[in-house]
Amino acid sequence: MTQLHSVPDAATAGQLTDKFGRQITDLRVSVTDRCNFRCVYCRSANPENHMAEHNLLSWDELGRLARILVGLGIKKVRVTGGEPLVRPGVEEFIARLRALGVPDISLTTNGQLLAERCERLIAAGLNRINISLDSLDRAKFDKITRTRSFDRVMAGIDAAQASPLRPVKVNAVLVRGLNDDEVEAFAAFARERDLIMRFIEFMPLDADRAWTRDLFVPAEEVRRRIEARWPMVPIAHERSETARKYRFTDGRGEIGLIAPVSQPFCGFCSRVRLTADGKLRTCLFSKDDHDLKGLLRGGASDQEIIGEIRGIVMEKEAGHRINEPDFVPPSRTMVYIGG
Ligand code: GTP
Ligand code: 5AD
Ligand code: SF4
Repeated sequence: MTQLHSVPDAATAGQLTDKFGRQITDLRVSVTDRCNFRCVYCRSANPENHMAEHNLLSWDELGRLARILVGLGIKKVRVTGGEPLVRPGVEEFIARLRALGVPDISLTTNGQLLAERCERLIAAGLNRINISLDSLDRAKFDKITRTRSFDRVMAGIDAAQASPLRPVKVNAVLVRGLNDDEVEAFAAFARERDLIMRFIEFMPLDADRAWTRDLFVPAEEVRRRIEARWPMVPIAHERSETARKYRFTDGRGEIGLIAPVSQPFCGFCSRVRLTADGKLRTCLFSKDDHDLKGLLRGGASDQEIIGEIRGIVMEKEAGHRINEPDFVPPSRTMVYIGG
């Protein structure tokens, strides 16, 4: 078991910044590349080769990196995957993050295993949760996820709403011709259920490489369509947040529009990602990622790891180039990067 040292003092260790002066305060940790869904905008129909167990960071290794990064000013940690709940031990990892004093611990999940895990996640110290739901129509949900999990995901959303987890955010990736006819239904769902419904523009990170520009649904179209039915007013958001947020003038619920393609939000990006196999990625669209597992397993000291992380973060990309004519998707797709 790795020795757990105390968290280095942020004032002495110094915060993490890049060469553009962006402060890095958010860490997204993918704890597994496995998933119990095969969503069409993410995975291929056929199972991919999973990472061998020894290539994944162990919970101890993840815990050590989290401690180091918290010492460098990370305030928000999001646990993702793959589907994070398929890897045994997520609750213990969340408890470890809690013990490190992380102020904001969140989980992104497809919700299939949530109903039965909710209580344990909360007991471990989880603060909030984002659940994917790409259709309110059972048959379409099955088609998109290539599962029959609609009822279980709805039960997961129910469990989250009945629990102290707040806010509960529901994410839909819109794909033209597939689920873009459901914008108004999702908005009605947000109102009925008093939850935050977020619409995400499809990005060129799918395993099938089927993304084309005409398949993403611009956030402005979504806003216009909802607004035509139910007037909304914008609400304040943090500069680094992915979503632009709206509330209804006449009722409950909230809408979030995540527009990485039509309105990139890279200028205030505060995020770095850790992949399940121990690579630090400074951008979803990075050409390369940076191996930390080798350092961990090669006996590097905390100071050596800190030096490496600082150097990597300093070189964080200005932003993605999806809208440039010479754009080439990253070789690693969402499956391997983490959502
Ligand atoms: P909050 O912390 O609750 O605001 O959530 P979040 O939006 O950061 O997390 P979530 O996992 O719900 O992300 C929703 C979606 O936004 C992801 O699935 C991605 O599609 C997209 N997204 C999140 N972070 C980034 C990012 O850094 N860059 C880009 N381009 N897209 C992102
Ligand atoms: N474009 C946008 N979002 C995606 N996700 C996965 N693939 C894509 C993509 N190509 C998101 C899903 C889920 C999270 C895990 O990753 O919406 O919320
Ligand atoms: Fe940050 Fe890269 Fe996402 Fe832009 S595309 S918001 S720089 S992670």
